[in-house]
Amino acid sequence: MAESKLLHLFDDQKHYLKSFQTFNSYSAKYAMQETWTNTVLLDNIVPHLPNLDRDKQLRVFGIGSGSGEVDYPFLTALLKKYPIITNRVVEPAEDQIIKYKALVQSKGHELQGVKFDWRQQTLEQYRDTDGVGTKFHFISTIHSMYHVEDVDSSLMYLYDLLEPGGKLLVIILSDQSGFSNFLNRLPGLLKQSLRYISSAHIRRPFEARDIPCVQIHRNSEVDITECFNETSEDGELFRDFLVQLKGFRKTATPSQYKEAMEYLASSECTKKDGRKIVMNNDRDAVIVTKMST
Ligand SMILES: C[S@@+](CC[C@H](N)C(=O)[O-])C[C@H]1O[C@@H](n2cnc3c(N)ncnc32)[C@H](O)[C@@H]1O
Repeated sequence: MAESKLLHLFDDQKHYLKSFQTFNSYSAKYAMQETWTNTVLLDNIVPHLPNLDRDKQLRVFGIGSGSGEVDYPFLTALLKKYPIITNRVVEPAEDQIIKYKALVQSKGHELQGVKFDWRQQTLEQYRDTDGVGTKFHFISTIHSMYHVEDVDSSLMYLYDLLEPGGKLLVIILSDQSGFSNFLNRLPGLLKQSLRYISSAHIRRPFEARDIPCVQIHRNSEVDITECFNETSEDGELFRDFLVQLKGFRKTATPSQYKEAMEYLASSECTKKDGRKIVMNNDRDAVIVTKMST
């Protein structure tokens, strides 16, 4: 069967960012920050990072850091142990880098000791230009592995960029979530060759190579009632984010749209809470340790 003209959200950066921000405004995404900074970074990563002399810099690498809201608390937490940090960031969206720079400026004194090196590039472009020139003690990719062209090879590349004993942190949608159930069934429902990534895709290449990797699971829910509203702009942006397609209601055939929305409303993806429709949006943090050679 010929594929219909569904447009991928990532092909329109502006629309993607608008729908991502709409999703964030409903999902209380940053409420999880304390868990990521305290339980994941401070309890499970920092104590195991290599010890450095006080005058040596910790090299940190952020992949798809966006506007820096998640990376900035990480940096302030790392500064407590490592007073000198170089933070390289690859982020392809110019407006996100502008926002990140403004955030850094507004937090000036809290980030004293951090030298930033922003690269307006995709990870693939960085790989082509820098190869494995610089090695890092800590690499984080927070909700950005969905976007890379080849997940396995990107992860192994990031692993190669780690110093011995260094840590890679990937935060991503859990394969145990209702959201992931929805995305897994979507290509079949839409009869499209779409690709969606969750934590299982992250663990797989490391487990296959016996590389140590631990996972920390966090529960989360999001009220998605608004995405069933066909008359509001928020509803459209929210829906587009969930399916990761641009203008989904207008570009899908009526039957594709109906099937996808019915499945989304089913108990495999969501639950009813009074008049609300609530989706399980659990996340996983996958921590990988670079083995000493
Ligand atoms: C969902 S946002 C996450 C932003 C931020 N890490 C956060 O958690 O708020 C994904 C980010 O990945 C960036 N991105 C998209 N394609 C990328 C690629 N190929 N390499 C690196 N980053 C990419 C996007 O521009 C966007 O800022």
